[in-house]
Amino acid sequence: MPMKLTAWLILLFSVVGYCYSLSTQSVWVKGKLKCGNRDAKNIRVELVDVDLAPNPDDLLDSGYTNATGEFDLKGSSSEFSDIDPEIRIYHDCNDLGIPCERKWVIRIPKKYIYDGTVAQQPMNVGILNLELELEHEIHHCFES
Ligand SMILES: *[C@@H]1O[C@H](CO)[C@@H](O)[C@H](O)[C@H]1NC(C)=O
Repeated sequence: MPMKLTAWLILLFSVVGYCYSLSTQSVWVKGKLKCGNRDAKNIRVELVDVDLAPNPDDLLDSGYTNATGEFDLKGSSSEFSDIDPEIRIYHDCNDLGIPCERKWVIRIPKKYIYDGTVAQQPMNVGILNLELELEHEIHHCFES
């Protein structure tokens, strides 16, 4: 590569690097799931930071609801721009016998994103009844 071009690229990257620096941001979410009147226990819940392609989404935390259907997930990620967190819930409540699992995606508002590695307050989604039918719901098959 000619010297002049290399120098230009270095200059370009330092300007870009100065304008967009990585910042660590965190999020905390909790809630309770029901399937009708039952507590929905052992339901897979993921806290994900959605990234633009080709970057893969980051799994910030994941787990399963406990015996009373409750989950409590928190995590952090370093990004140039604001993180874009959402929770994904995989379940079979009211799935009318369709194979695979219903996948619910719930986006977390920006006001619940905190600077640093520890989120000060959780976003409490309250009690969600998984019987509800969401508009753009998809079915997701885990590879076995
Ligand atoms: C389920 O998790 C919630 C919140 O973390 C907690 O308050 C509750 O005691 C747990 N229930 C059981 C049965 O462990």
